[in-house]
Amino acid sequence: EADLLGDYDHYMLKEMFEQPARLEDTVAYPALSDALFGDQAAEVFPAVSAVQIIACGTSYHAGLVARHWIESIAGLPCQVEVASEYRYRQSVTLANTLIVSISQSGETADTLAALKNCDRANVLARLAICNVDHSAIVRESELVFLTRAGAEIGVASTKAFTTQLAALLILTERLATHHRPDQFDAAPVAAALKDMPSAVARVLSHSDKIAALTPQFVTKHHALFLGRGIYHPIAMEGALKLKEISYIHAEAYPAGELKHGPLALVDSDMPVVAVAPNDELLEKLRSNLEEVKARGGQLFVFADEAAGFKPGPGIEVIPMPHCSELVGPVVYTVALQLLSYHVAVGKGTDVDKPRNLAKSVTVE
Ligand code: G6P
Repeated sequence: EADLLGDYDHYMLKEMFEQPARLEDTVAYPALSDALFGDQAAEVFPAVSAVQIIACGTSYHAGLVARHWIESIAGLPCQVEVASEYRYRQSVTLANTLIVSISQSGETADTLAALKNCDRANVLARLAICNVDHSAIVRESELVFLTRAGAEIGVASTKAFTTQLAALLILTERLATHHRPDQFDAAPVAAALKDMPSAVARVLSHSDKIAALTPQFVTKHHALFLGRGIYHPIAMEGALKLKEISYIHAEAYPAGELKHGPLALVDSDMPVVAVAPNDELLEKLRSNLEEVKARGGQLFVFADEAAGFKPGPGIEVIPMPHCSELVGPVVYTVALQLLSYHVAVGKGTDVDKPRNLAKSVTVE
């Protein structure tokens, strides 16, 4: 195993740095077509009237990001649910639903069971977005899109997640082509898929800058992650990474909910990480952050270089490349991966094999 690590201290670090190449592989198609999802896709995609995503853990967060894309770009209603809940709940499936399962391993017991037990009368087809060909989830599905993350060894998922996002953006493009033929402009999506690898490489080159923040986290027991809109699931994924490998309790909130509870917890022992890309919600986020500052909270703002966030007492600003809502979720994720990695190393935890967790949960 040591040989495979090369110059890296951990598989997680190696896998984070593989992301530009793995993303490039995942989107390496001369042209996007329905056939990338299987023979039946050309028949299924135009007939879809709703999307239901099911997944667990980090893959669930990819689904939450995709919901924003599928609803705003393709105009189709999209629901997302953790598989362990979906499988037992008496939910209502809309007619002509496309079930989308997202799974790195393709073997997660809850996701597989949810797929097997879905309401077949209203389900048009089941699509697996998966990193392992011939896995149980792939075999159970009519349609498949394989991410090309390569083998992921670190228990905390990194490159599997970002390649899932790329795959889900391709799916969005396909659905939008069929469902918004007049309004949909494919060019920004194509540009985003092309830009992802280099944007991620730029964030990775700031690894040392992010590592410099770790002394301010290693002594803490809690952290809050804030994001709005499509960046709320990115905040959730950032919080999950920190929990998984550094054992610091972390919670993510959509920034607008701050005043409805978590603000009571904010003091100088509670670092607050904010994902602040330069989109239309920025002004709102900015006032949420003022509330944190006023209560003595230490703020770490990952902000678009163009957003004009100024560092100062109690506020660290980590500049991020300017990017669209199509590339941003991938880019900010990588920054938060680096943050939790460096904090975990600072705490001396077993980064690649965190206590109590398994890479793949094949039993309930
Ligand atoms: C486990 C892993 C997570 C993963 C989740 C879902 O909890 O530790 O990293 O996100 O399972 O796994 P899947 O293989 O279905 O994506």
